[in-house]
Amino acid sequence: MSDIRPKIQLNDGREIPTIGYGTWLTPAAEAHVRVRQAIEAGYRHIDCAAVYDNEPQVGQGIRESNIPRSELFVTSKVWNTHRGFDQVLRAFEKTITDLRADYLDLYLVHWPANETQYPSDAWRHLNAATWRAMERLHDEGAAKSIGVSNFLPHHLDALALTANIPPAVNQIEFHPGYYQSDLVQYCFANSIAVEAWSPLGSGRILNDKTLADIANHYNRTIAQLCIRWVLQHGIIALPKSLNPARMQQNLSVDDFVISDNHMRQIDQLPEMGYSGSHPDKVTF
Ligand code: A2P
Repeated sequence: MSDIRPKIQLNDGREIPTIGYGTWLTPAAEAHVRVRQAIEAGYRHIDCAAVYDNEPQVGQGIRESNIPRSELFVTSKVWNTHRGFDQVLRAFEKTITDLRADYLDLYLVHWPANETQYPSDAWRHLNAATWRAMERLHDEGAAKSIGVSNFLPHHLDALALTANIPPAVNQIEFHPGYYQSDLVQYCFANSIAVEAWSPLGSGRILNDKTLADIANHYNRTIAQLCIRWVLQHGIIALPKSLNPARMQQNLSVDDFVISDNHMRQIDQLPEMGYSGSHPDKVTF
């Protein structure tokens, strides 16, 4: 069962399953049940974050699944209030204590410090200090892979000036109607794997007529079409569902191929479903 999903290789040589189960907005009270159900459905990659406020329950669900920890790929993220060297190390300790895990497969910087909040060069210094702690955790083997989330090319360029280890991953908003092709191309050119958060546009794109027509053509649901589109771009998809049948459905995307024409048609959809959270402008 461990090879249930295709994997891709990261720039540090480790492998990551191409579909992960997202836990954002999963209420803490039901998170252990949902995570266990997701693992039963076949997910072997769980995407968490400290700010989701459900890591103890996610950890409980992982344990209840009875799948060996070594067969799971578990990600978490350090929240924005814990940037800086010492703060990151403390935040990591809390996350692995909450999850009751010995290590993380992947630890991400949730959002870059940006110029709106940290003018002049302050954002650069803060991101560099945060990243030094990430490198420490990687050197200690506590975070097997390290990466970032919501970083734009200028944040990555700035980080590269002081980093000893390049980010393995950049997790970004990516779905039909929010196709950040320049950012994706930048990441691929720099050997950074891309993960898609909200691959279904948080549900906001699931009534689109063009997507419905294309999905019907393949006799699949719009959700399956969106996930397949993400995968065919070489990107890791992190769909969320609280419903076991939809969890299962979202994994069943290996038995059809979207044609080049349909891929282009989806690429070119006008903006829709965008979260509105721009990494240079957010103030949280
Ligand atoms: P639900 O939990 O009731 O299944 P995203 O992953 O882009 O953030 O989107 C998550 C949203 O999409 C949730 O509201 C979820 O609702 C819904 N969703 C997830 N999978 C499916 C699916 N296969 N069909 C319809 N809606 C889905």
